[in-house]
Amino acid sequence: MGNLRKSWMVWALVGSLVAALSAIVLQDDVREKLGSNYYIISLAIIGCVLLVLSGYLWDVTILQRVRALGNQAKAVQSEDDYGALSADTVASEDIGHDEIIGLARQIERMARSLQRVEASYRGIVEDQFDLICRYRPDFTLIFVNGAYCRFFARKRTELLGQPFSGQATSERLPWKDDPAAQTYEQEIKGANGTTWLQWIVREIHDENHGVVEYQAVGHDITARKMAEVVLLRAKDAAEAANRAKGEFFAIVSHEIRNPISGVIGFAEILSDTKLDAEQREYVTLIRNSGDSLLFLINDILDFSKIEAGKIELENEPYSPRTCIQEVIAFFAPKATLSGLTLDTLISPEVPETVVGDVYRLRQILINLVGNAVKFTRAGTVAIHLTQLPISDNSAAIDLKFSIVDTGSGMSSEQVARLFRPYVQAEASTTRKFGGTGLGLDICKRLTEMMGGKISVESDVGKGSTFSFTIRVGGGRQLSA
Ligand SMILES: Nc1ncnc2c1ncn2[C@@H]1O[C@H](COP(=O)(O)OP(=O)(O)O)[C@@H](O)[C@H]1O
Ligand SMILES: [Mg+2]
Repeated sequence: MGNLRKSWMVWALVGSLVAALSAIVLQDDVREKLGSNYYIISLAIIGCVLLVLSGYLWDVTILQRVRALGNQAKAVQSEDDYGALSADTVASEDIGHDEIIGLARQIERMARSLQRVEASYRGIVEDQFDLICRYRPDFTLIFVNGAYCRFFARKRTELLGQPFSGQATSERLPWKDDPAAQTYEQEIKGANGTTWLQWIVREIHDENHGVVEYQAVGHDITARKMAEVVLLRAKDAAEAANRAKGEFFAIVSHEIRNPISGVIGFAEILSDTKLDAEQREYVTLIRNSGDSLLFLINDILDFSKIEAGKIELENEPYSPRTCIQEVIAFFAPKATLSGLTLDTLISPEVPETVVGDVYRLRQILINLVGNAVKFTRAGTVAIHLTQLPISDNSAAIDLKFSIVDTGSGMSSEQVARLFRPYVQAEASTTRKFGGTGLGLDICKRLTEMMGGKISVESDVGKGSTFSFTIRVGGGRQLSA
């Protein structure tokens, strides 16, 4: 409003000056009267017009600038003051006041508001337990909070200008995918001894995106570090205890195996001597018990050897067919006794000789066929062998063995629990058939060591099929 009035006055003044000038210049009698003063008065009037116009233009430009500043001030005030000053701000329309005075008040309010905001942020920063500081790219400190001062037991004035103490000694990692922030851990000596700090360092940029400062926040992680050390020690101790247990098992089972072999061997010799029926029955019982015991001990020995990583695979040529025949021969007497049929089905493309560890293959087969015979009351236990197509051009081939039985089978819940140590599908089977529950775990580990996999399909009441693959060196195809 005041502005419009000012414009009218300026234009009226300019108008009357121009009118006076034109009267002097255009009317001859006025010019004659003035005589030689005519030039001086005209020039003075032109000078006045120019002066008034330039003053007016200068005023307008300054006003525009001041207005922009006022708008900025308003924006800053409402941003920084969390809206708390809204009543003040609304009253600042300054209608009817001189605009410049209004703007000056606005700026003054902005300064007060910024002071309040600054004080509240400073309070928050000062009350932190974390060390907070800012430093220049040359590591000179330009701000430290109270926690920083207390940590080093130094005055703020002593610390400012000194180098930042938390310069990274370990690898810096990105902080929360933020490209401007990094984190690292550091063991640092403070006034109260050594402390572990985790630093988060953030780059502070200027408007041209250059780094002008760094902000660092150090959090005390000593308790966590100590807990990690304790945990690591406990883990080492547990691993050592586990190793000791494995070694103990290996030694004990090895030591037990020798006398049992003696018992079985002498029972066999005894059964070849002259015995009456009762004595023969007792000797057979001794032999069978010895055999079961030997199985158990062998399972435990193998398991502890695998656990201790002490199994090394052989790489010798062998015949998979012969291996299967040996396993069938091993179970034949037991199968005949329980009225089971043992069967083999070997695909013609399987090579006569392959390269690998026949002893471990036999062990897997004995475990799986042993289970099949144990859990099948009537029907057939069969070993199938096929060769799988292999994609790469290497000389290695994959053999797939399947042990199919018509036994008790297992439910899907029972199947889901298999292949873990000490797990037996049904608690009652432990009492009925004995066993350690280690066999399938041993089979799984051995097949994996031989580059294969083991799996099972089972139907309650219908039977189970345990299948496994092993990777072997390709041999010669002697017979079809
Ligand atoms: N062919 C099978 N038919 C039915 N159940 C089986 C068969 N093979 C294994 N199982 C189940 O899996 C369990 C674990 O087998 P295994 O690891 O060899 O231990 P173990 O023979 O010492 O019991 C057995 O106790 C049995 O319950
Ligand atoms: Mg078994």
